[in-house]
Amino acid sequence: MPREDVLASLRALLDGDAVVVERHELERYEKGWRYGRGKALAVVRPSSTEEVARLLRLASSIGLRVVAQGANTGLVGASTPDGSGEMLVLSLERLSRTLEVDPVERTVTADGGVLLSRIDAALAEHGLLFPIDLGADPSIGGMVATNTGGTRLLRYGDVRQNLLGLEAVLADGTVLDLTRPLRKNNTGFDARQLFVGTSGVFGVVTKVVMRVVPRPAQRVTAFVGLSSGAAVLGLLVHLETRLGELLTAFEAIGAAALAPVFRHQPRLRDPFGGRHPAYAVLVELSSTLGADRLALDDLLESALAERLDVADGGITDVFPGKPSELWAIRHGVSESLRQEGETLAFDVSVPRSSLAAFVDAAREAVAAGWPFVRFCDYGHWGDGGVHVNLVWNPAEAPRPAADLKAELQPRLYDLAVVRFGGSYSAEHGVGPHNQAFYDLYTPELVREVCRLLKGRLDPAGILGTVRLG
Ligand code: LAC
Ligand code: ZN
Repeated sequence: MPREDVLASLRALLDGDAVVVERHELERYEKGWRYGRGKALAVVRPSSTEEVARLLRLASSIGLRVVAQGANTGLVGASTPDGSGEMLVLSLERLSRTLEVDPVERTVTADGGVLLSRIDAALAEHGLLFPIDLGADPSIGGMVATNTGGTRLLRYGDVRQNLLGLEAVLADGTVLDLTRPLRKNNTGFDARQLFVGTSGVFGVVTKVVMRVVPRPAQRVTAFVGLSSGAAVLGLLVHLETRLGELLTAFEAIGAAALAPVFRHQPRLRDPFGGRHPAYAVLVELSSTLGADRLALDDLLESALAERLDVADGGITDVFPGKPSELWAIRHGVSESLRQEGETLAFDVSVPRSSLAAFVDAAREAVAAGWPFVRFCDYGHWGDGGVHVNLVWNPAEAPRPAADLKAELQPRLYDLAVVRFGGSYSAEHGVGPHNQAFYDLYTPELVREVCRLLKGRLDPAGILGTVRLG
């Protein structure tokens, strides 16, 4: 169907400015935060599940390909259109009316386009907390489609582990209501999981019900300097053993990833005064009991003091600090590295016990083959997750970025997945950025099942930019 006819059909389905066609207005929907730079036929911004259903029914009937987009904060290029100029972006930004907190059920119900920041603000009024925390401000529907991890996974788990219900619209416009907020429902196949971490290829998530947790009454944080990756792991096990569930976060930042934060965000105070240890670990303890009932700061101080007494504990410094200030440093890493030059990012995980060995092996491999590349690692060591960002100055690189990417990706993924038994995408999900590695590492039977599901749920093949089958 010619573009003008498609646009006329879309306008007939939605009100006023819900259809975006102007080139300059399309731009922000066409470019991902890190990867993904495409060209959209148009953007549609439905405000209700019913409108999403009508749009998808039309798209299926004319074979119009669609990519759902929440807040477009994803890191694998899965929320932006391809370069064909023929894909429709289905933005969920206006699907954001419902936001209901139920303190008795201890749940939040939100439309797919509601942003994490709004959800958390609503929960705070009830003394509740959204279990997942991260630097960006994604939409809840996007968080489900990505199965977001974040910095509190150690304590509360990922989206999958906290999801109670969802509503999804299938490619033919069928609305699948799986929103019953039951904590126990042991009745066979869990259809909700079709839509969790599957990048929107089986349906568009229009409503979500999540389990939420009591909001901590106190949090204490400190940066701990450590001399090696092995020392980081030693501290992790020590703190888990001594403090159990009080340990809420354990984030390690390598020296090469920490320095850029203070270069690009001069307002942040550097607790290390520029003398960065091999690893700076942000430790957070939190409790629903207030400071009058539980002296969290004393507990952290004594647990660290015990470790300082261990001969090879490797602690070089301890800097207690305000949670908001220390977290601003941690959450500033990814953005700061992006400003350092050409960046190739990896989001890998390995069994925790192998993390230090993996990082050392990866660093050596990069230094040996690509000496002009800076190896910057940071991440969620408590979950076995590490972000390796490789940064270089394009003017000093012997080959174009695309060639270097084609050399470096297989090398590092092979190390993580094959040699260390890990994952090529620990928490950012599957997108065009890592499609080739999905194809390489996913068992054929699993892909065959995905093909069968896709054939039933989206027979015209209109949804998404990744291929799970
Ligand atoms: C982080 C993002 C990149 O951990 O996952 O900062
Ligand atoms: Zn992360």
